[in-house]
Amino acid sequence: MTTRILTGITTTGTPHLGNYAGAIRPAIVASRAADADSFYFLADYHALIKCDDPQRIQRSRLEIAATWLACGLDTDKATFYRQSDIPEIPELTWLLTCVAGKGLLNRAHAYKASVDKNVEVGEDPDAGVTMGLFSYPVLMAADILMFNAHKVPVGRDQIQHVEMARDIGQRFNHLFGQGRELFTLPEAVIEEDVATLPGLDGRKMSKSYDNTIPLFGSAKQLKDAIARIVTDSRAPGEPKDPDASHLFTLYQAFATPAQLAEFRAELVDGLAWGEAKQRLFERLDAELGEARERYHGLITRPGDLEDILQAGAAKARRLATPFLGELREAVGLRSFRSDVASAGEGRKKAVKSARFVSFREDDGSFRFRLLDAQGEQLLLSKGFADGKAAGQASKRLQAGEPLDLRDEGDAFGVWLDDECIALSPAFGDAQARDAARQRLRDALDA
Ligand code: TRP
Repeated sequence: MTTRILTGITTTGTPHLGNYAGAIRPAIVASRAADADSFYFLADYHALIKCDDPQRIQRSRLEIAATWLACGLDTDKATFYRQSDIPEIPELTWLLTCVAGKGLLNRAHAYKASVDKNVEVGEDPDAGVTMGLFSYPVLMAADILMFNAHKVPVGRDQIQHVEMARDIGQRFNHLFGQGRELFTLPEAVIEEDVATLPGLDGRKMSKSYDNTIPLFGSAKQLKDAIARIVTDSRAPGEPKDPDASHLFTLYQAFATPAQLAEFRAELVDGLAWGEAKQRLFERLDAELGEARERYHGLITRPGDLEDILQAGAAKARRLATPFLGELREAVGLRSFRSDVASAGEGRKKAVKSARFVSFREDDGSFRFRLLDAQGEQLLLSKGFADGKAAGQASKRLQAGEPLDLRDEGDAFGVWLDDECIALSPAFGDAQARDAARQRLRDALDA
């Protein structure tokens, strides 16, 4: 069985080295597994919640798309798209909004943090809180449930959102599934052995600490950033402690065990910090140089990126469009025409399950019964001398020729070529008999 893995990248910034080691690289590796069916998308509707600078939104979408492709995401295998190219997602968001408890959303960390901050400074609790921020987890639930993802790789801060997607999906299944699991319930995946990179100052590398190393800046930008990594004051020749150095931790995320062992030995031997920084630069340049070339090639061909993402959206919508159709049906948003059609279908179904059963009597003759959808007998044929004659008679009944039914008391007979070839059971009264005649006609009309 394949596992569907889905994750979104909010498009508000430029990818840095920490994003690469912590999310992009492991996601691309995971997408190559034979049993993986990966959905990676640019969460640009989510970006609008945090950012009202159109230029920045647009730039970030372009940079993030180019980054993932340059890093080797295979878009033939994975499905790679922009959230905003899938109109089914906001539509599903509304269906989910109508079942998501407000109380559930009140407990979302991001919203609560804003409220707490407001309360602390004596503001109205909801000051500056948009409905976008409040409903953020519902949109995220739609992202996940739309494609029935099994696994959702996320950072720790997002676990609660995946759990809310589970809750909301479960509630929707319960209300509208009629015993069926309309939505697969997702699970958050936290990659334990993935590197969380320290930034220039040793704290976690993050845009909000302004301590990042750009992923695909020029070689000079990379060099300049590395030069700003904070180290201790040990002089050249003095032994360094690799395990107390975040420069070493950074190196570790991009080195083989052999390379790492060598670097460790050099530091212990008194390698100067300036030299150590040069080593890190060379390692990163070797690791990322080719991808950087590809990245700059892609960034200068936005039309090609647009085509790739449009193709990804088309691929995603081949699933989303029919699935949303089912969900609309489930909640009662149906075409009036399909009401007539489905009433007809209902009848056809009942009729379809009416069936002929043929059997052989002890005396060697061949008979058939016609049972209605509930298994109740409508007809029992006379005994035919051979199976072929019995088969032909039952075929003629199904062929749609006008039926010759003649009452026989509380029962009725079916006549072909002036011969009674089958009889109904006795029904007790004329009304029940006539109802059974109608059921027979319905069954044979189908
Ligand atoms: N909220 C996620 C984040 O900030 C991004 C995201 C949006 C996402 N939709 C998603 C992640 C669906 C996983 C699944 O990191």
